[in-house]
Amino acid sequence: MSKVLSGIPPEVLTRFATDLVAWQTRHGRHSLPWQNTRDPYRVWLSEIMLQQTQVSTVLEYFPRFLSKFPDVSALAGASQDEVLGLWSGLGYYSRARNLHRCAIEVVARFGGVFPQDPVDLQSLPGIGRSTAAAIAAFCFGQRAAILDGNVKRVLTRVLGYSADLSLAAHERELWNYAEALLPTRALSTTMPRYTQALMDLGATVCLPRKTDCPRCPAQSMCMAKQEGDPLRYPVKTRKLKRSSESLWVLWAQNKQGQVWLEKRPAQGIWASLYCMPVFESAEALVGALPHGQAVQHDAAFVHVLTHKDLHLHPVRAQPAGNLSPVLRQGVEGAWMAPAQWQSLGLPAPIRKLLAG
Ligand code: ADE
Repeated sequence: MSKVLSGIPPEVLTRFATDLVAWQTRHGRHSLPWQNTRDPYRVWLSEIMLQQTQVSTVLEYFPRFLSKFPDVSALAGASQDEVLGLWSGLGYYSRARNLHRCAIEVVARFGGVFPQDPVDLQSLPGIGRSTAAAIAAFCFGQRAAILDGNVKRVLTRVLGYSADLSLAAHERELWNYAEALLPTRALSTTMPRYTQALMDLGATVCLPRKTDCPRCPAQSMCMAKQEGDPLRYPVKTRKLKRSSESLWVLWAQNKQGQVWLEKRPAQGIWASLYCMPVFESAEALVGALPHGQAVQHDAAFVHVLTHKDLHLHPVRAQPAGNLSPVLRQGVEGAWMAPAQWQSLGLPAPIRKLLAG
């Protein structure tokens, strides 16, 4: 039975934010390197890195990135290759391309100072509604609601919100509830705490396949807990449509142990990254090589992306000389030693192949 809430119980409205703020103060996370700062550059960078990457991995990349690009002007002045190189291994490189574009826009449109208004923040590349709200809440104490996947789970459970979030109207309604639940007092201290509390709950207590209700500050008001089956939330019927694709990867190595890498076009898969030449069939790959070139087909492997299973077929060869004119018109490539390719932005599965 699906039930759409007509409103939030008054008791939840008055207590939810207060209880979460008190809980975060005593039990939440306080020493992550992007906390205890109101610098929007650091908060923005961490939020983008944390979108599709675990905290433990971001803990490695965040300080390295900051020491190379200490502020938004430094990042705006970098080349795209430098930024992609530092992002190397984090995956989902559109984040890095947007990060760089965003820094350039912050400098060009806002004089190098991040705007405080979530609407302005959201007008920047790579900053969606929830990320804009996180920056505005953490740095400027703005009364703006976050609603990423973790927070959707927490709120649908607390509210017993069983409407299907595949429908935009229901997602909009949940945004309205998220806004209604925000703190109303002392925003410059409560908004950062409350926002972090929601993130901490979603990351450590109210997990997708496990809940730790005794540790939750909202346990007494949680509809899902009362009903006895919190894991049935959130409700989302439309599943991601997955597809699969096969690609043949030319792993060309010369006598010096260098590999042939090309910079990928700015559009499409692995945009602007360095990569071994990629073909849509084994025949296309072999046909691009000098006639009679010996090749060795390695075992294929699957690389799982959000929307797609990529079946990658490495094909080894030892051709000599400049391959650019041989392989493709207009695509520049080069022989690169490990010391060179290690610092480039490479697709994760290609890096894995090369690293052995
Ligand atoms: N995930 C997204 N934002 C986060 C933050 N500020 N702290 C910890 N995990 C997060």
